Amino acid sequence: MRPTTLLTTLLLTTATATSASTLPHRPRPRAAHDLRLLHTFTPAPPANTRLLLSSSSASSPQEEEEEESTKGGAILTLPTNKTNKTNQTITSIHSTFRLPAAAPPSRGPTAHNPSIVHAASFWLGLDSIAPATEPSPCSGSALRAGIDIFHDGRLGGAQTPFAWYQLAPGMVAARGFAGGFAVAAGDLVRFTLRSEGSGGGGDVVVVVVEVDNFGSGVNCTAGRTPVQSVREVLRVGAGQGLCGRQAAWVVEDFPLAGMPDFPVSLANFTRVDFGQAGVGLGDGTRRDLSGAEVVDVRLAQQGGRLTKCDVVGGSIVRCTRVVGDE
Ligand SMILES: *[C@@H]1O[C@H](CO)[C@@H](O)[C@H](O)[C@H]1NC(C)=O
Ligand SMILES: *[C@@H]1O[C@H](CO)[C@@H](O)[C@H](O)[C@H]1NC(C)=O
Ligand SMILES: *[C@@H]1O[C@H](CO)[C@@H](O)[C@H](O)[C@H]1NC(C)=O
Ligand SMILES: *[C@@H]1O[C@H](CO)[C@@H](O)[C@H](O)[C@H]1NC(C)=O
Ligand SMILES: *[C@@H]1O[C@H](CO)[C@@H](O)[C@H](O)[C@H]1NC(C)=O
Repeated sequence: MRPTTLLTTLLLTTATATSASTLPHRPRPRAAHDLRLLHTFTPAPPANTRLLLSSSSASSPQEEEEEESTKGGAILTLPTNKTNKTNQTITSIHSTFRLPAAAPPSRGPTAHNPSIVHAASFWLGLDSIAPATEPSPCSGSALRAGIDIFHDGRLGGAQTPFAWYQLAPGMVAARGFAGGFAVAAGDLVRFTLRSEGSGGGGDVVVVVVEVDNFGSGVNCTAGRTPVQSVREVLRVGAGQGLCGRQAAWVVEDFPLAGMPDFPVSLANFTRVDFGQAGVGLGDGTRRDLSGAEVVDVRLAQQGGRLTKCDVVGGSIVRCTRVVGDE
């Protein structure tokens, strides 16, 4: 049951990655039972949920017609227009959100099962959601970063959240921040992901991930100093840069890494608000989420529709955990 191969993978760091903290920070030692998710970009059908249920699944025929999706949230895709001189490349994505707690769902087919793991992943990404028919929205890289939360019924409850980033291709597994990033349910966190063009050399593209934790006692970030900040700077070859067509704010149900057959279901995270959400464009302007596509997690074996997501006021992506069409 212990994902030992995974531990080795995640402890690797790139020579190009750097990390800085605003305050001295001592990373918490990894406990042997720390869980990790398998952050695949194109998820296979959720084989892990096979084990969750008996054949008496309660999903209605209508729900079974819906396309399965491990992702909920909002996806902003900008149109390409070579005639229009406006630079509509997305160069950054940001959001501030309060990290929800993980609990087992109180209803639906995955409720009341103390021997399974419940998890949820909250992430922001650039060019990170591929249409079903294509490998990526463009022929470049994908960048994303987020936090995973866990509830392990075998260990009596919520487990330590894991903050991570991932640049594909190149990183098969998501990586924790060098030096660690301590975060708990209830903390207000801010994510900023940026693509900084060639970085001067002409042959490399600089990609930056910044995460700040403002702690649990505050409601807004204005004028506040983060309790902890981490920053990863990654460099990729010029031909592998982000093309900046798509930004996404996502809650996702991933399988457990190193434990492909272990039952894991989407935790009851109650609600997440990706607030102050928006993107920066290549011409220096910012843009809100007007026109973004809203998607929901839909997994028939876990009860059908598992999130009710919406864009509120153009700058909040709100996802509520539901079961079926409630
Ligand atoms: C592209 O931009 C030009 C100039 O703004 C506009 O005339 C044209 O209709 C646009 N094309 C599309 C497909 O949006
Ligand atoms: C180019 O496209 C952007 C976004 O669609 C639009 O806001 C702008 O007005 C367009 N520019 C011209 C010159 O049409
Ligand atoms: C999730 O937890 C909240 C708060 O306890 C509860 O109100 C809600 O009904 C739960 N939802 C599910 C799907 O279990
Ligand atoms: C945060 O907002 C909640 C609800 O609006 C309020 O009850 C609470 O006092 C606020 N906390 C702080 C530190 O401002
Ligand atoms: C658009 O902006 C990106 C990022 O700043 C830059 O790399 C690209 O060259 C720009 N494209 C144009 C046509 O100005």
